[in-house]
Amino acid sequence: MEKLVINGKTPLKGDVTISGAKNAAVAILPATLLIDGICTIDNVPNISDVKIYCDILQDLGAKITWNNEHEITVDTRNINSYNSPLEKTSKFRASYYLIGSLLGRFGHAQVGMPGGCNLGARPIDQHIKGFEALGAKVDVSQGKITATAEDLIGTSVYLDMVSVGATINVMLAAVLAEGTTIIDNVAKEPHIVDVANFLNTMGADIRGAGTDVIKINGVKKLHGNATYSIVPDQIEAGTFMLAAVATKGDVTIRNCITKHLEPIIAKIIEMGAEVDDIDGDNIRVWCTKRPKKINIKTLPYPGFPTDLQPQMGVILSMADGTSIINESIWESRFQYTEELNKMGAKISAHGKTAVFDGVEGLVGAPVYASDLRAGAALIIAGICAEGTTEVYNLSHIDRGYENIEEKFKKLGANIERVVE
Ligand code: EPU
Repeated sequence: MEKLVINGKTPLKGDVTISGAKNAAVAILPATLLIDGICTIDNVPNISDVKIYCDILQDLGAKITWNNEHEITVDTRNINSYNSPLEKTSKFRASYYLIGSLLGRFGHAQVGMPGGCNLGARPIDQHIKGFEALGAKVDVSQGKITATAEDLIGTSVYLDMVSVGATINVMLAAVLAEGTTIIDNVAKEPHIVDVANFLNTMGADIRGAGTDVIKINGVKKLHGNATYSIVPDQIEAGTFMLAAVATKGDVTIRNCITKHLEPIIAKIIEMGAEVDDIDGDNIRVWCTKRPKKINIKTLPYPGFPTDLQPQMGVILSMADGTSIINESIWESRFQYTEELNKMGAKISAHGKTAVFDGVEGLVGAPVYASDLRAGAALIIAGICAEGTTEVYNLSHIDRGYENIEEKFKKLGANIERVVE
C-alpha cells in the first residue's frame, strides 16, 4: 500500500505549472469516438483516469499513440465494438460519456454502471432523458446501461437541474444527429466550452457553450485531422491557490486561465489574503496573516466549485472565527471533515452543512482520502500541520492530479510517497 508522508508547517513558496483539465480530458477522449479519422490532443493530463480511458478506447478498436508525455494521437477509423468493457467502465464516473459518443456515432452503446468518487447519490436520469428525447431506447439493468437508436433526430431538451455530465453527454449524442438540438438550462463550466471547442475544431456545429442554452446543428461527419489543446485545469489551479493561503505561503500559479478562477479569487480576498492576476494566464497568491472566517455555498459555475470545497475547508478549519460551508451539489462531501478533526480541527458536519470553529493550527495524524478532492485537502492539511501526517488511499488522488507530490515538493513541501 502506498501513502504520502508529510512533515508539516511549511509555507509553500515558488511557481507551479498547471496541467490540462481532468474533467475536460475525460470528456474529450470519448468524444474522439465521434470522429471517423485521426486527431491529436495536446496538454493531456497524465493521470490515471486518462490512462483508463485510453485503455477503454483501445479495447473498442481505437489506435492511441503517445507522442510525448502530454500529447496523444487517436485514430478512431477502425472502432469494432460498441460494447465497452464493463469492468473498466464501472470503475470511474466519466465512463458515462461513452454512451453519448457511441450512441452518436453507431446508434448503439453499452457501458457498465459508472462508479467513481463516493459523494452520495449520483443519478444519470437527465442524461437518459436527453438520449430518449433524441430518439434512443435506453435500458438500465444488470449493472449496465444499453442505449440504441435507429436514427437520432434533433430536438429540444430541458435539463431539470444544471448538470455537467448531462450537458456534455447530450451534446455528444446530438453532434451527428439529424437536424438541430437545443439543450436548455445547461452547465457553463470551462470544460463544457472546451469539449464544444474540441468538437467544433473537428467539424461539429455547436453554438452557445458557456451560456445557459446550447444549440447543436447536426453534421454528417466529423473529419478529425486537427490538433486540439486541452484547457488548463481550473480545479488544480484553485487547489494550489488555496494551498498558498492555507500554508501562509506565496505561490505563482502558471498556465491557468484567471477568468475561470474568479469565484476563488473573490473568496481568497474576502479571507484577507492577497491575489495578483499577473496577465490572465498566471496568478500570484500569498497570505501573511491568519485568514478571516467566511461562508461558502457551492454552486455550478460561475459559483464557488464543489471540487474546491474540501481544500477551502482546510483553510476555514484554521481561520479566525466560525465559518459555514453549505454544499449544494453533492449530498456526501464532508467525509474529509472527520479526518481533519483527527488533526485537531473542530468541524461539525450535518447533511449538506458544516460548521468550522477555527483552531490555531492542526497536528499531524494518519488520515484517509475518501475521494479525489478530499485527498488534495488532506495533503494541504498535512503541509500546514505540526508534525507528521500520513495520507492513505492515494488511488483517489492519482485519478485526477498529475505528479501531485512533485508539484508540492517543488514549492518546498516535505512530502514523500512511501510503499508500505
Ligand atoms: N444530477 C441528477 N441527475 C443527473 C445528473 C446530475 O440529479 O442526471 C445531479 C447530481 O446528483 C448533482 C448535480 O446534479 O447533485 C450536479 O451533478 P453533475 O451532473 O453536474 O455532476 P457530474 O457531471 O457527475 C462533474 C464532475 C465532478 C463535479 C461535478 C459538479 C466530471 C467527470 N465530474 O460530475 O467532478 O463535482 O461535475 O461540478 O466531470 C471531481 O472532479 O472531483 C468531481 C467529482
